Amino acid sequence: MTGTDTAATTASAAPAESGTPVLALRGVHAGYGDTTVLRDVDLSVAPGAVVALLGANGAGKTTLLRTVCGLNRATAGSVELHGTDIARLPAHRRTALGLCHIPEGRGVFRSLTVRENLYLQAEPGRNAQAIEAAVQAFPALGKRLDSPAGTLSGGQQQMLAMAQAHVRDPKLVLVDEASLGLAPVVVDEVFAFLRQLADRGTALLLVDQFVTRVLKIATHAYVLRRGRIVYDGTPQELRSGSVFEQYIGAA
Ligand SMILES: Nc1ncnc2c1ncn2[C@@H]1O[C@H](COP(=O)(O)OP(=O)(O)OP(=O)(O)O)[C@@H](O)[C@H]1O
Ligand SMILES: [Mg+2]
Repeated sequence: MTGTDTAATTASAAPAESGTPVLALRGVHAGYGDTTVLRDVDLSVAPGAVVALLGANGAGKTTLLRTVCGLNRATAGSVELHGTDIARLPAHRRTALGLCHIPEGRGVFRSLTVRENLYLQAEPGRNAQAIEAAVQAFPALGKRLDSPAGTLSGGQQQMLAMAQAHVRDPKLVLVDEASLGLAPVVVDEVFAFLRQLADRGTALLLVDQFVTRVLKIATHAYVLRRGRIVYDGTPQELRSGSVFEQYIGAA
């Protein structure tokens, strides 16, 4: 990352972001076995921020989200959630601390019914409230509660996966390619839901192929290139001209 890429000094900066970050990665390295993918990654998500994480195929976006939620382990550096180091906690403990990961490929149990999937997302003893919250967010799910999730359309499966972000009221939601393979009208619904989450103050870290749409709702943006952060600044600056082409154009 170069000094000129940081946009902290830009006049049109995002809304004031103060206090302890919801998420802070410092000097994070991570990968798979002997392969290092993320190198010296610093990234932070302020309370209420919507952060876009961009980069070409294979840049390390999914790996970064997996390292935050505990599916991959950081081999160096720290991962803090509201100031607590979570880098060595198992994934379920991170979930209990308010982290919600909506993985690429939806992450629903196809052979379980919609209702059963929602029970799995619910806090203990709050099954009825989980159903109510999910149906409120996505009315279409209400008509399919007793259908196996695998029989839903791709869009409805994505809604079911995203319902957990509404059901559990997490502090931070990580979303990996939620709009992949969906019809345009469903993509609109996905983005409307993300905006709704942001409006109620949930911090979001978003990876999505629809770069322009993500940057429209983002308050901050990072670009990963070959596992390193090469842009850390405002969405406005990133969208303008050569910076965008320089960083999004090539792996
Ligand atoms: N399970 C795995 N085992 C080994 N290497 C992996 C594994 N998953 C991903 N990688 C490698 O890690 C690097 C980063 O992959 P990652 O999936 O994080 O990228 P990405 O930015 O999410 O890409 P895409 O836009 O295609 O989703 C790639 O070189 C990829 O081949
Ligand atoms: Mg990915």
